Formats: sequence, structure tokens, C-alpha cells
Amino acid sequence: MCGIVGYIGERQAAPILLEGLSKLEYRGYDSAGIAVFDDNKIEVAKAKGRLNVLAEKTNDGKTIHGTMGIGHTRWATHGEPSDENAHPHISMSGRFAVVHNGIIENYIALKKKLTDKGFEFISETDTEVIAHLFEYYYKGDIMDAMIRVINRVEGSYALGVLCSDYPDSFVAVRKSSPLIVGLGENENFVASDVTAILKHTRDIYYLEDNEMVVLKKDSVKVYNKDKEEVPKEKFTVDWDVSAAEKGGYEHFMMKEIEEQPKAIRDTISPRIKDGRIVLDDITLTTEDIKNINKIYIVACGSAYHVGVVGKYVIEKMCRIPVEVQVASEFRYCDPIIKKNDLVIVISQSGETADTLAALKEAKNHGARILSIVNVVGSAIANASDDVIYTWAGPEIAVATTKAYSTQLAVIYLIAAYMAEKLGMLTSGEYAKFISEIEALPDKVAEILKSKEELQFLASKFFNCRSIFFIGRNLDYAVSLEGSLKLKEISYIHSEAYAAGELKHGTISLIEDGTLVVALATGRELFDKTVSNVKEVKARGAVVMGVTTQAHENMEDVADYVVKIPEAHEMLLPSLTVIPLQLFGYYVASLKGCDIDKPRNLAKSVTVE
Ligand code: F6R
Repeated sequence: MCGIVGYIGERQAAPILLEGLSKLEYRGYDSAGIAVFDDNKIEVAKAKGRLNVLAEKTNDGKTIHGTMGIGHTRWATHGEPSDENAHPHISMSGRFAVVHNGIIENYIALKKKLTDKGFEFISETDTEVIAHLFEYYYKGDIMDAMIRVINRVEGSYALGVLCSDYPDSFVAVRKSSPLIVGLGENENFVASDVTAILKHTRDIYYLEDNEMVVLKKDSVKVYNKDKEEVPKEKFTVDWDVSAAEKGGYEHFMMKEIEEQPKAIRDTISPRIKDGRIVLDDITLTTEDIKNINKIYIVACGSAYHVGVVGKYVIEKMCRIPVEVQVASEFRYCDPIIKKNDLVIVISQSGETADTLAALKEAKNHGARILSIVNVVGSAIANASDDVIYTWAGPEIAVATTKAYSTQLAVIYLIAAYMAEKLGMLTSGEYAKFISEIEALPDKVAEILKSKEELQFLASKFFNCRSIFFIGRNLDYAVSLEGSLKLKEISYIHSEAYAAGELKHGTISLIEDGTLVVALATGRELFDKTVSNVKEVKARGAVVMGVTTQAHENMEDVADYVVKIPEAHEMLLPSLTVIPLQLFGYYVASLKGCDIDKPRNLAKSVTVE
């Protein structure tokens, strides 16, 4: 979704803005623009399409002088991708330039009011009302104008605003959309996320909702809506710059697939001490855990798929009922949340609009929120009672891999932690489970060594029109993720089905040559899934089986077999998913798809 960068300092702003925007490309966008204060006026350049169109237009920013500016990548919501609809938007007199990430829900009413007052609109966007509102409310003090604007607009926003009356400063504010402040030496920044400014500084402020910031080259001041200065704690990001670079890989997705052993290790190691799981990050006491009545897991997309795994694992290990819901449904279903219910919210970005709204809905019903988040200081993390961070590092490819894997790892830690507190595990079982969790990174690394096998299988099937994924219980949960991974980046239609459910309708879609990827890793249900494999084979399907080394008879029924190492039954999803990620990647690669930035998708979905 939209990305924002702002700069003030001693260097030429435009090239820094363009470079920062290039780091936000992964969020998804279809036009881009910059506004720079130069020679007492605001100069704007914007262009539909990829950032290189804007870069060409401005000779990589060199033709625009000035040392203070704001930049934007736009993912169209209100109005098609076009030069006019691209940000920054300018107020009628040209005094204000505005970049915006989010949605102004009452923009139609505001537009009408402003039009009645003589303001003329040149774009179809909701954002243009903000530029005009600034003009309308401005009486010589930009902060007063900003307060009136944010009191008037409804919805979500991260805003960067230049005013030609202020040659030495610009302002920014956020509510329910991400925005951080970067603190440099004689220069300061704002950005939608850290990756955009990591090259220049690691010192940042996280902004809370409705905190307004005034940036000068040598100072940053944050204010609340009463214009009182708010003291901010400085955070130092420990991500390496290389973490957000491709580092020789053709795609971020492959780099991130390969980073999974490290990401899982980084997530679990600090939380296992002397053979015990230590969740210092959370305040949930043993008493609280014993009192949990029911758990909801709420998330979107792949994070929701982690929740499906979580349901099976937590119910099996803790015998607490778990309901998993997609956030966009949960937020409007008037959930029945009772005293002592726990809501686990899962999100890589920590900014997903539906997940954040679902969290707020759960809170309004009195639920306690435990979130699993990758981005430190993000809105979801801030709004939760407890947060367990996944230490996956920046995930740039739109299709998640390492965030998914680290979220799974945290689910295992939570399940075992709670099971132990509930007395559901003997000390031997607990010790065994922990050592099996610790073994996961090496087992994932082992699977990654046989990438070529998946490349070969992809070469056989990249022309398929439709691919089905089937499995039971945990294998079904992973099927959901395997199918999503394939379809989102390769654009091949795919569905995931509980293997036993296929014959209640969907099996009619199986015809000669249809590929069915059958996951059968669990011991108990292996034979059941094999029966389903036989059913689809009998109807002409070609079957790729994914199973563990122990199951030798998969070869008897499936046309191709992918083997993963043995592991504790509950932990197998961490291994099963790896060949599926690789398969999706290679299929998309053979089809020549834009793997890191699939069409129509955005990395951080900050609108409903
Ligand atoms: C798919 C994918 C998405 C995200 C979903 C939630 O590969 O990445 O389905 O999982 O949009 O995003 P977060 O985790 O940021 O809330």
C-alpha cells in the first residue's frame, strides 16, 4: 500500500526521496511523486507507473533542487492510477503539499463543503481534500491548521505536509497508518517503515496515533493534539542494511525462503533458557492461563493460516477450545467474547487494517490481546496487552515466507508454554518438545538443500490451469498456505481442501492430468489421506505427495513424492511448508511472473 518518505537536511532532497521510495516499492504501488521546497516555492513531480518513470522525469531527482521534501508511492484506492491522482496533492494556492497513506472516510462530505466554498479539485482522490482543508483552516500557524484538519477528517492517515511559509520545517502526523521518524546528524526523516531510511539512520521514534511531529534539520519535536510536547523514547533498529537488500538473489522471496533457518532460530533461541520456554515478553500469569476459557486467533491471509495450525496445536496440547477467524469477518461479527477469553492476533506488518480493527473490536468486548508481530512499535503491537515479536527481520517480498515460519515458531512456543503451565505435559514430553523445536532450523536448512527437486517438479507443472492441495488436520492447515503461495505469485488457480471433504463436491473438478498436491505427513491420518489420493488418481489426477521419510508407501500411490525429515507431529507444518514455498516460487519464475510484486497485491494492507 502507499508509502511515504520525508527528508529535511543539508543534502539535495529529491534523490534521497527517490531512493527511499525505492525501498518502499515492495509495499505495492502504481504511481509515485515528490514535492520539494525550492527557491521559496514547492516544486512537484509525479508520474503514473513504476518509480523509474519518475526517476527519468527528474534525472534521478537531480533536476529538483532543495533540501526538504516529501515523497509518495500510491496504491490506488480512490481514482485510477494516473499523474493527476498521484501524490503529493497541492492546495489551491499552492501553499501546501500533502502525501497521505490511508483512507479519508468522510471525504465526499468534505469535498462538497470545500467545493461550495470555491475550492477546485483536480483529482479523484480522497487525499486532495486534506490539502484544501489545510488551506481552509490555515491562519498562519501550521500546527493549528493540522489540529483542525485531523479533528475534521475520519478514517486512517499518515500525512507528510510541506507549507511554503515554512522554509525550514515540515510536519507529519499519523492515525492507524504507519509512520516513523528517523533521527540523523543535521538531517531528519519520516517514513512508512524503517527500510526506507535504514541507509541513513537507525535511530527512530515510533509515533502514536494523533501525534504530530515538526521536523527541522537539527530538531524533531512531537506534540499531542493539545499542542503539548510529548517526550519520545529513541529506538535503535538493529537490522543490518543488507537485511533489506537482495544480496545477489534474483528475488527477495528466494532470499527470504533461504533466511528461514536463521529467522526461526532468532525467534526461538532467546526464548528457550536452560531447557525451558521463557516468555519474558508477556504478562500472562500461570493463573491467567489456567483461567482461559477460550482462545480466538484472528489474522488475515498467511497469518490466518498460521492461526489454523495454531488451532490444531493448542487444542491438542492444551485442551483449550480455539476458534480461528479471518479478521475482516471477525471485526463485523459481533463476537461472543466472555470473561477470561484470550484473543491472539497475528500480523507480520502489525499494520493490517482489518486485523487492527478486529483487535479493537475484541478489546471493546473486554478481551485480553496477545499479539504475534514482526514490526516493532507497529500499531497492532502498540494496541496489544502483550506482544511476542517474531525476529524475522524485514520481509520485503509480498508473498510471506519467513514471517509465516517465525509466526509458526511462536505458536509452538505459546502452546508448549501453556501446556506446561496447565500440567498437560510430563517433564519428559516437555523436554522432548523443546528439543524438537530447537531442531527445526537445521531441518528446514536440510530441506532447502534439495531445491532442485522442486525446480524440476515446477518445470513439469508450470503450465497447469488449476492445482489442488489436499491434507487432513495440520496437513490441511499447510495446504491452505501452499495453495495461497502458488496462486498469489504464479496466478494459477488453486484451491486447498480438507482431503476428506473433496468428494462432497470439489472432486468433480478433477479431470485427466489435474495436479493434486497431497500432504500426508501425520502418522495417524496417513492412510486416510492415501485413500483420498487413490480417489483422485482414479479420476485422472496426477499426484505430488509430500510426506516424511518414514512413510515409504507414498511412492506406491503418488506419481511424484517429496520427502521431508521426521519431526514431532505438531511441528511438521514448519517443514511441510518449505517445499510448497519453493514449488510456488519456481512455478512463478518459469512463468516469468513478477515474483516479489505480484499484480494487484500490496505487502502492507493498510486499507479495509
Ligand atoms: C500472503 C501474505 C498475506 C499476509 C496478510 C496479512 O503471502 O503475505 O496474506 O499474510 O496480508 O499481513 P500481515 O501479516 O502483515 O498482517
